[in-house]
Amino acid sequence: MLDLLVKNAVIHGTNGRVDIACQDGRIVEVGPAIAGEAVEVIDAGGNLVTPPFVESHFHMDATLSMGMPRLNESGTLLEGIQVWGELKPLLTPEGIKERALKLCSWAIAKGNLAIRTHVDTTDPTLMAVDVLLEVREEMRDYIDIQLVAFPQDGVLRTEGGVELLTRALDKGVDVVGGIPHFERTMEDGRRSVEILCEIAAQRGLPVDMHCDETDDPLSRHVETLAYQTHRLGLEGRVTGSHLTSMHSMDNYYVSKLLPLMAEAELNCVCNPMVNLIIQGRHDTYPKRRGLMRAPELMAMGVNVSFGHDDVMDPWYPMGTHDMLEVAHMGAHALLMTGVAQREALFDAVTFNGAKTLGLTGYGLTPGCNADLVVLQAASRLEALRLHPARLFVVRRGRVISRTPAMAATVTLADGERLVDFC
Ligand code: FE2
Repeated sequence: MLDLLVKNAVIHGTNGRVDIACQDGRIVEVGPAIAGEAVEVIDAGGNLVTPPFVESHFHMDATLSMGMPRLNESGTLLEGIQVWGELKPLLTPEGIKERALKLCSWAIAKGNLAIRTHVDTTDPTLMAVDVLLEVREEMRDYIDIQLVAFPQDGVLRTEGGVELLTRALDKGVDVVGGIPHFERTMEDGRRSVEILCEIAAQRGLPVDMHCDETDDPLSRHVETLAYQTHRLGLEGRVTGSHLTSMHSMDNYYVSKLLPLMAEAELNCVCNPMVNLIIQGRHDTYPKRRGLMRAPELMAMGVNVSFGHDDVMDPWYPMGTHDMLEVAHMGAHALLMTGVAQREALFDAVTFNGAKTLGLTGYGLTPGCNADLVVLQAASRLEALRLHPARLFVVRRGRVISRTPAMAATVTLADGERLVDFC
């Protein structure tokens, strides 16, 4: 007997409705009108079924802390950093864990079953590292969580920063992080990239750095990141997150940079929601959008995925951890409303994210993990437009979240009608 049979699914790129059969945590068959008994049968009703959404860039140690110990009155990055500095000494393991687990339940309800989260390693106690390692373990059956050792205050700028970061890796953190633009000098930033990539090479780990998250057109650590990736043979294992200075760089320089990034097979993670409100704050008018050049990177064949970055913390006061909302924001902020670009937006929060995280068994073909989401939408475009209900979220062949379909009843003089915006 099958564990789960999903009937009447629409899968992007497949004609007509299909059924999806799941057994022992895997998809075993995809096709029209699959016969056979199943422990559970769900009817997708002609709605779009997608592999789970992937969150490529998040900060789970800060999430849902908004208002602690006070609100960010100005909404700026600088005040956000101040508030975080005031909150840090007040953090407790219980509090971090409670908020992280709450966020995980939000993620599941939104169909996000893979999250790469950065965790601050500049705290000498590494408290958040220990807590998020526990959360990773406790959520293992539901969400693939990857931890990035993130030296928030700079690996060289922090006393003992390299040692703290390597201790976090010894504890089992998955990825080497960095923040070269926050080091004291351009040269220290360059050196930090070299040191961190060498640590990753020695340990056989991936790299994911906050890189050039500024409006400074001369912040060019991504060039060093591409160079070190190539030098150390780390192609495909290295990610540059944010890369917002690309927005402000000279076009001629970018024409040299893009091929270097493609050659190094960098993954790039764009965070449109948060960088739209953080960047351009020193501008009068016009105000720069301050995002990486995602369409141009995609056109070069570079893997670009999207992250939410923050949900209700000192830096970002909104969000429900909805990756379709992130893609929707990307459409506007990156001017990606062309037909092929709309497809690329959906990929940025699904397949491209899976590539950034190096997930295996991702997809909706036989042999893949039986992880999927049934959306209350008929197509990818409709999903981007509506940010619809995730009717069913399935992990390893088991339904782990259900949301009722949304429709309004509008009453006019001639009677009632249902409105679902389709
Ligand atoms: Fe970030």
